[in-house]
Amino acid sequence: MQEYGDGETLPPLRIGVAGLGNVGATLVRILQKDGAELTKKLGRQLVVTAVAARSRSRDRGIDITNLDWFDDPVALAKSEGIDLFVELIGGEDGPAFAAVKAALEIGRPVVTANKALLAKHGLTLARMAEESGAQLGFEAAVAGGIPVIKTLREGLGSARIAKVFGIMNGTCNYILTRMGNEDISFADCLKDAQALGYAEADPTFDVEGFDTAHKLSILATLCFGYEIAPDKIRVEGISRITQHDIKVAADLGYKIKLLGIAQRTDDGIEQRVHPTFVPKGSAIAGVDGVMNAVALETDHVHELLLAGPGAGGPPTASSVLSDILDIARGTRVPPLGVPSHELMPYREAPMRAHEGGYYIRLNAKDVPGALAAITTRMGERNISIDSVIQRSDLSAKAVAPDGSPTRTVVMITQQTLESSVRESLAQIAADGFIVGEPQLIRIETL
Ligand SMILES: NC(=O)c1ccc[n+]([C@@H]2O[C@H](COP(=O)([O-])OP(=O)(O)OC[C@H]3O[C@@H](n4cnc5c(N)ncnc54)[C@H](OP(=O)(O)O)[C@@H]3O)[C@@H](O)[C@H]2O)c1
Repeated sequence: MQEYGDGETLPPLRIGVAGLGNVGATLVRILQKDGAELTKKLGRQLVVTAVAARSRSRDRGIDITNLDWFDDPVALAKSEGIDLFVELIGGEDGPAFAAVKAALEIGRPVVTANKALLAKHGLTLARMAEESGAQLGFEAAVAGGIPVIKTLREGLGSARIAKVFGIMNGTCNYILTRMGNEDISFADCLKDAQALGYAEADPTFDVEGFDTAHKLSILATLCFGYEIAPDKIRVEGISRITQHDIKVAADLGYKIKLLGIAQRTDDGIEQRVHPTFVPKGSAIAGVDGVMNAVALETDHVHELLLAGPGAGGPPTASSVLSDILDIARGTRVPPLGVPSHELMPYREAPMRAHEGGYYIRLNAKDVPGALAAITTRMGERNISIDSVIQRSDLSAKAVAPDGSPTRTVVMITQQTLESSVRESLAQIAADGFIVGEPQLIRIETL
């Protein structure tokens, strides 16, 4: 064993892993395979001594015969036979929460990849960790293999961050990329994503934007020093995106990406998750398929883009390992970047104050005067229209309840207040010139 620091030889770090699924089994495999090399790097041995999962007999492609087995993750978290508890079960409450609390309560360091748990209980867990002097690592919880938490907590620890945005869900990015490259509907792309294991059987959490919102809430706290507030995020998913939207975006020089965006404003913090038009030439537009990316706008470094695999066993296990290495080395940082008592109560900026360009797609009745009436309503709220597009190939061929045919109309606005756009669309709907709900997508210049 090599010596560490002032000549003291550190004992092996005994690790207990709860959850041996995609990430947990990969972590155990890497530690068993690369253990000797990691010991050389660290000057300290890392050994998995105990594991917990539901089924003891399930073949996971790893040898667990010499490891202590626990049916109960809480018992593992409290076991005398481990120095570090790794939670890879998942879920915002239940056994994951109970086990992480049990470990922190006795001052035992914890590493988790669980964004749902962090988004809901991150503040409580950070307080518990600080009180008991335990470390809490969660690098893998945001953007899988991309070291964004460490970058924010340490590399950019002294920076003032104005805005963070990114593609944080590989399932959505895969679907939008394929819809853009091939003439395939959202539903067909989703089926393929499920067949390839990129999407869950119930994809709601991913495609409706909630997974991105969890990750964004954690990033926003690390960036701005406010308490975690996932419930204050305005969330729109990608299930209403059609080929019409993708094609018009492409014609106008944009791609559609599901972005999570958080920024400081004079009125507080604005956090939103929604499909977004991004310029084709922007760095974020080049992040395709299941890849993730997080962009940071800071005072001194200016813009920084971190891109890479956002999910999958090996990339996620690599981030878990990075936290384990930090704990083995004795690195100490407050879990949420600053001591939790220094976090400010969340101050929500009203979403309606958002100002930007908008893509609007609506089904207008194909009757004389309809388009003029629609644009007049826009003008009443000082909304300047950049372009109006009517393409027969994009027509939804819907028929209004009164039997009138309809025509798909797309409008691109100049910079305008979201409140004006929404009020104007409500008025247009009340006038009876459109059928169905308009599609509204924000355009970010980035
Ligand atoms: N997969 C990814 O790419 C990825 C990326 C980033 C973050 N994460 C996060 O990493 C965590 C793990 O994800 P995963 O994909 O590895 O999940 P997974 O494949 O579903 O594995 C979950 C594991 O937890 C075990 N488990 C479930 N309930 C349990 C209980 N009550 N007691 C003991 N063990 C229990 C399961 O046991 P059995 O095997 O016996 O059923 C399974 O081994 C989640 O928080 C997830 O959000 C995953």
